[in-house]
Amino acid sequence: MPSVSDILDTMDYGTAPESNAHAVGWLKEHQGGFGHFINGVFTKPGTKRFDVANPATGQVLARVSQGSGADVDAAVKAARKAFGAWSKLSGHERAKHLYAIARLIQKRERFLAVLETMDNGKPIRESRDIDIPLVARHFYHHAGWAELIADEFPGYQPVGVCGQIIPWNFPLLMLAWKIAPALAAGNTVVLKPAEFTPLTALAFAEICREAGLPPGVVNIVTGDGATGAALVDHPQVDKIAFTGSTEVGRLIRKATAGTGKKLSLELGGKSPFIVHEDADLDAAVEGVVDAIWFNQGQVCCAGSRILVQEGIAPKFLAKLRRRMQSLRVGDPLDKSIDMGAIVDPVQLTRITEIVAKGKAEGGTLLQANCELPAAGNWFAPSIFTDVEPSSTVMDVEIFGPVAAVMTFRTPEEAVQIANHTRYGLAATVWSENINLALDTAARVKAGVVWINSTNLFDAAAGFGGYKESGFGREGGREGLYEYLVPSWEAALKPVAEAKAAPLTALPAESSASDAIDRTAKLYIGGKQARPDSGYSYSVYGAKGRSIGQAGLGNRKDIRNAVEAAAKTSGWSSATAHNRAQVLYYIAENLSARSEEFTTRLRQLGASAKDAKVEVEASLVRIFWYAAQADKYDGRVHATKSRHVTLAMNEPWGVMGVVCPDEMPLLGLVSLVMPAIAMGNRVVAVPSPRAPLAATDLYQVFDTSDLPGGVVNIVTGERDELAKTLAEHDEVAALWYFGPGVKAVEAASAGNVKATWASAKPRDWLSRVQGQGGEYLRRAVQVKNIWVPYGE
Ligand code: NAI
Repeated sequence: MPSVSDILDTMDYGTAPESNAHAVGWLKEHQGGFGHFINGVFTKPGTKRFDVANPATGQVLARVSQGSGADVDAAVKAARKAFGAWSKLSGHERAKHLYAIARLIQKRERFLAVLETMDNGKPIRESRDIDIPLVARHFYHHAGWAELIADEFPGYQPVGVCGQIIPWNFPLLMLAWKIAPALAAGNTVVLKPAEFTPLTALAFAEICREAGLPPGVVNIVTGDGATGAALVDHPQVDKIAFTGSTEVGRLIRKATAGTGKKLSLELGGKSPFIVHEDADLDAAVEGVVDAIWFNQGQVCCAGSRILVQEGIAPKFLAKLRRRMQSLRVGDPLDKSIDMGAIVDPVQLTRITEIVAKGKAEGGTLLQANCELPAAGNWFAPSIFTDVEPSSTVMDVEIFGPVAAVMTFRTPEEAVQIANHTRYGLAATVWSENINLALDTAARVKAGVVWINSTNLFDAAAGFGGYKESGFGREGGREGLYEYLVPSWEAALKPVAEAKAAPLTALPAESSASDAIDRTAKLYIGGKQARPDSGYSYSVYGAKGRSIGQAGLGNRKDIRNAVEAAAKTSGWSSATAHNRAQVLYYIAENLSARSEEFTTRLRQLGASAKDAKVEVEASLVRIFWYAAQADKYDGRVHATKSRHVTLAMNEPWGVMGVVCPDEMPLLGLVSLVMPAIAMGNRVVAVPSPRAPLAATDLYQVFDTSDLPGGVVNIVTGERDELAKTLAEHDEVAALWYFGPGVKAVEAASAGNVKATWASAKPRDWLSRVQGQGGEYLRRAVQVKNIWVPYGE
């Protein structure tokens, strides 16, 4: 007689199908095709439509309208019209609408889960237990924010009409991540779901109608990339929020450059999954299941690069292989299925091609030998071994159920390999040693780090990437800033800028001898440096008299300055107290020389009174940021039980700071000080018209214990230097205050740099406009570290 364990080992699962009757009935009701949801009503299905298929069967589920430019225009106009009343509603009234939506989502949880599974191919277990509950949680959480917004974000206002473009991997969840915070903050939206998976967004439109949401507050326009592009380009859209591929993110960055549209990008990833030798291996193996086989690996933060410490690698791999073989792949509506179907044949082809390349490059592919259904789009759970950091499968986002496994020797090497990527969305760290786990978490460049867990999400925590994974956060307090703008900033008026004459280069040898002495050099790595060009330019004072010369910096100087800044990483890990001390010292030394600086500003054209006021304000500003250095800290978010979710403010690293012409000393101080107070190293381009106010600071820096390389100053043509900074991969963020916003934002698309650029002069003397939390917030990126506790 077979033993119980024999039976357990040989027993197969029966089928446990979830009923789809309700969803099928709903689709039947819409047999004639879906229109768009504009101004609270569904339009007639358009003449141009596309099929939406079930990835598990290939069967067509619905015919959906391809949104035209006119559809997008109608939706944007409806959103614009609705904005006035919606943004003026009290937070409490808006909260009630969001609660109503949340409750209706909960009421229809099963229907939405089934529809999502039919449309996307993800297992019902996931849509039922993860996607839809998180959707409801997101609306409840943001109903709370609507209630609190005036108290918690004083001085901020909604951005306006938000264009939101989402991908197909978590269709309704991505919709919730976009729409809930936008509405809570008082914006109205036009959302374009992905062409593969628009159905739950259309079901959501019905929920909005039923919940009595005012017409035009939420508009849904379906269509492909062309519809998305029309939304991005629409002049009446104030903000674009995009989740999708880095490639399209770059296009959107370029398309919105110089338009004044606010932008947040949540892009791809190639997230490391680090298993240290002291990890709980069984738990880590389950972690891999959730990291790369969850949602068929079509997850932007999928743990797709598994890094295992050498000593435990054979044991870990053996366990992982065994576990992979036990995964059940098949009908996503079956409740006992682990992995469903790939969203579309196009995506399946993409995965297959990358995998073929991985094999051609010498990687060994291990696949679960599960039986795959004949119809539909399927790919077996897979891992690659025998790969290197530069292998294609370790480098590109596969967006399928395929992880690549590599070993590392030391924790140091793990961090090095982990950071060897252009992405920085998420990371997972497994170790039973909390010191090691937190140390790794701190050193990995990623917006989200999970310790001894993976793919955890909650509405109260921020989510978003470093580097080419995009910028901006979604969720919680961090995410709300993406849908708000300081009222003073919104009120700034553009000025018609007279085109500045180019700076006239003076070869050093042709300068008058006294002028050579008066030529201010560049400041790179804590040393004064001659400009690479060998040229300088004349700086003119109030009456058009030359008052000195400044170096004419070029691309090479910027590159040298960035290199010097990159090397000074110790500043970013110095204690906030130490940084504060240096800033106080700078203020003291500037104070001792305030007369000299006042004279300089007078020479540059300021009146005696204005010069004095500017120097005094600069001193106060430095003190203020010195004081903030150890106070602008992070938070612990209230997410899941038995977890602390640490939201840490981390410096960007190397920042470019391009300064305005107005208030040449105060403008520079107002930008450079928050940046360095938060631990960044800076390459600053001072006002080209009045660079001497900045170059006089070299001696102040030299005498203030500021490590060389923390502040680097390159004088010259602002826009030429700004472009080099914008294009430089080592520069993680760029602030630009000048007329050339469009060129800077477009050039920043290369490594998807976070930029803060404005052509609108602000009052640098004002404590509201020239100083404050907005500067500090923009000087950091938030890393959310999830730490579970308990046995
Ligand atoms: P995609 O980036 O093309 O599509 C995402 C959304 O952007 C869709 O709604 C699409 O219609 C829209 N879109 C496409 N072109 C646009 C344009 N020029 N302007 C405005 N909107 C546009 O992603 P796709 O082609 O579906 O997937 C390709 C690859 O992208 C995947 O293999 C994966 O590597 C990555 N991806 C990453 C996602 C993430 O969450 N980070 C989500 C989806 C895809």
